[in-house]
Amino acid sequence: MTNEEGIIYVIFGASGDLTKRKLVPALYSLFVQKLLPPNFALLGVSRSAISTEGFREAMKSAILEFKEIDDASEIDAFIQRLYYTPIQFDDVSTYVALKQAIDQLQIGGNMVFYLSTPPSLYGIIPRHLAAVGLHKQENGWKRLIIEKPFGYDLESALTLKNTLLTDWHEEQLFRIDHYIGKETVQNLLVTRFSNGMFEPLWNRNYIHHIEITSAESLGVEKRGGYYDSSGALRDMLQNHLLQVAALTAMEPPSSLEPAAIRNEILKVLQSLRPINREEVAQVAIRGQYVSSSIKGKAIPGYREEEGVGAGSLTETFAALKFYIDNWRWGGVPFYIRTGKRLPTRVTEVVIHFKPTPHFLFSGNRLHQAGNQLVIRIQPDEGILLKFGMKTPGAGFEVQNVNMDFHYSDLSNQRIPSAYERLIYDSIKGDATLFPRTEEVLVAWKFLTPVIEAWKNEHEVPLHGYPAGSWGPREADDLIQDKEITWRYPCKNLSDDGIYCEL
Ligand code: BG6
Repeated sequence: MTNEEGIIYVIFGASGDLTKRKLVPALYSLFVQKLLPPNFALLGVSRSAISTEGFREAMKSAILEFKEIDDASEIDAFIQRLYYTPIQFDDVSTYVALKQAIDQLQIGGNMVFYLSTPPSLYGIIPRHLAAVGLHKQENGWKRLIIEKPFGYDLESALTLKNTLLTDWHEEQLFRIDHYIGKETVQNLLVTRFSNGMFEPLWNRNYIHHIEITSAESLGVEKRGGYYDSSGALRDMLQNHLLQVAALTAMEPPSSLEPAAIRNEILKVLQSLRPINREEVAQVAIRGQYVSSSIKGKAIPGYREEEGVGAGSLTETFAALKFYIDNWRWGGVPFYIRTGKRLPTRVTEVVIHFKPTPHFLFSGNRLHQAGNQLVIRIQPDEGILLKFGMKTPGAGFEVQNVNMDFHYSDLSNQRIPSAYERLIYDSIKGDATLFPRTEEVLVAWKFLTPVIEAWKNEHEVPLHGYPAGSWGPREADDLIQDKEITWRYPCKNLSDDGIYCEL
């Protein structure tokens, strides 16, 4: 991309939450950093009958409220680049008007279409765009960004893939998984492949097990309608967490070319040991938060949330044990868990190293279980290494101590948001951090037995867990080794939900 080339960024679902919280603030941040071409326009599209002026005002407030960057001096210049046109998503005739609105901008033919809409529209909008020729690349590139979830299961993902590929080429499709846009998730690659000391240990010979936790203290907030047809497995595990697992487990890519990295991620997903339907109850735990009281405050249960059915069986917690059947990881268990209304918001990857063959010393039981490398993805981004040290004084007692790096210690280094990074990449045409269709399909295929078994209430129980707890007790039993447990980054609930270390 040269700076002279114009770009039209078209956001479908422009009156929605994601647009105001993430997309527009991220675009503004890119604008301030001069990372957008001078000839840039953002066209908001949605069903709401608002004017361009109204859209500009709403986005101005959003940028100020959900700010990505401290510099507010260019907001007025930025919002002059914003336009709005209403549309009926499923009515192809309104796409003619959309095309006219685009032509009137006179910016040229490079366009990104960002689908920030309900997933049910991911097939319809691209077909209608193609019907009016907005997928054709003769006068400039056209890219389609699709939010997750890509499909609802393997079958629907395949159908969606076929629908999209009727008119669009795979190179035009950018499936966004904002976890991969997180700086600390990308840092997994740098930590692993730029440090000689980690990589030799990064395998079945030295690693006992790997744990990935993504906990949220909030409930489903205003998204009950969407969430109730999704659940933790589809919302977080099938995409974000399997991608994080793949980046943790992948082989070194031959280069940083998109294909090289994506091929290695795909190989990991293809090596996931298939789960038998009969073993689902032993390896996959699901839960749903029930009402409770935290520090005297009543917290509603999931079924009492707005938009959620009174008898809903949707899981708000999911935990999974699995194996990657390849040379590096043969026999090493991976444990993943995610949930809403847990005690705190934290996402981390914990590498649990094997203990020494014989423990000579007395002291810390945790240390005897092995060293831990904790890659904190959020919040308090950083890396923590836990190792044993002699307790000063007589004897040889061992105590666990931390070597702890915090990104916040790097002065003057702003961590761009995941959306900022991914939007920038979509403008540059860099697909490295966007999962390929094949990756998404393999992930759905892997989870199919769990999805099938969870359809049946009686085959695998849905455990209730009190809001503010670490999920159902049964998730602890996934880890069969009695010497180890999940890491509980914050045992005591803090009022502000801030991450705290044990
Ligand atoms: C989204 C899910 O993809 O990720 C949400 O739909 C979830 O349910 C969110 O809350 C978590 O993202 P983050 O970046 O806050 O960890």
